[in-house]
Amino acid sequence: MEQAELIWHNGELVPWEDAKVHVLSHGLHYGTGVFEGIRCYETERGPAIFRHGEHLERLEKSAELYYFSLPYSAEELRDATHELIRRNGLRSCYIRPLAFRGYGEMGLYAQSAPIEVIVAVWPWGAYLGEGSKEHGIRTKVSSWRTISGDSLIPHAKASGQYLNSILAKTESANAGYDEAILLDQHGAVSEGSGENVFVVRDGVLRTPPHTAAILDGISRNSVVQIARDLGYTVEERDIARSELYLADEVFLTGTAAELVPVREVDDHPIGEPGEITRVIQAKFEDALHGRAEEYLEWLDPVEAPAEADKPSKVRS
Ligand SMILES: Cc1ncc(COP(=O)(O)O)c(C=O)c1O
Repeated sequence: MEQAELIWHNGELVPWEDAKVHVLSHGLHYGTGVFEGIRCYETERGPAIFRHGEHLERLEKSAELYYFSLPYSAEELRDATHELIRRNGLRSCYIRPLAFRGYGEMGLYAQSAPIEVIVAVWPWGAYLGEGSKEHGIRTKVSSWRTISGDSLIPHAKASGQYLNSILAKTESANAGYDEAILLDQHGAVSEGSGENVFVVRDGVLRTPPHTAAILDGISRNSVVQIARDLGYTVEERDIARSELYLADEVFLTGTAAELVPVREVDDHPIGEPGEITRVIQAKFEDALHGRAEEYLEWLDPVEAPAEADKPSKVRS
């Protein structure tokens, strides 16, 4: 991965190579962490973070769902992230806040193990590969089902839960595909290993509902709004596996991947990215990069520091 200079760790800026944890950190053993994936884009008005407030709110909700008490408020994490981007001199980047149980107590009810918080930023290009957004990707329906709400919490973005995504992603990559699409426990389409799914048929967009074990994707919600604003009908309803094969167009949405067309599912060709995908993708890209007036409120500009702001010291 591409490195930056500094990482924010429990309220301090530390050099990238010194941002370390103890090997007996609870999160390392049991996956007890909650995190976010956010992107900052270069816009005409400077670097700006897409839907920063919504991401930090989801982080707080994920923490709450796992009975974590976050030692920093959303406002403090927002300020820390702004300073981090400025101090690393980045114009655009991926942003990874993570709160995890640290070192101090083992076992499953380790209430005295402290909650540590980090924010890291680094440049990260096309998540699903060069050309993925232009030409689409090849996907495979996974033999792994998404975690269901009766054993974990699909609505939470929690570290341990990603073992499910990793199994699906590994299976699809080993079989030569770009991404996996997982079904829920009832066999309906759920989501990609790190993206939500949209299907277009006869001009209507459909995406799985919250009850299909999805993460409530912030890109998904943005795309639903954009599509409706453009006059398309969007339905949130269960999608059968065969509807993927019969679709006129299929695409995935996620912060890392952005909006990526799907050109093949289980060796059934969907074809080059279709008209509706293209139109919505273009508007979404405009929103991300601050070119769409109507969605400017989705961007959190990383302002230059005020005169009175003292820069945080770097831990040596
Ligand atoms: C499992 C999963 N589903 C969906 C998404 C898409 O969510 P978002 O658009 O908020 O990044 C992600 C990415 O965070 C994810 O990891």
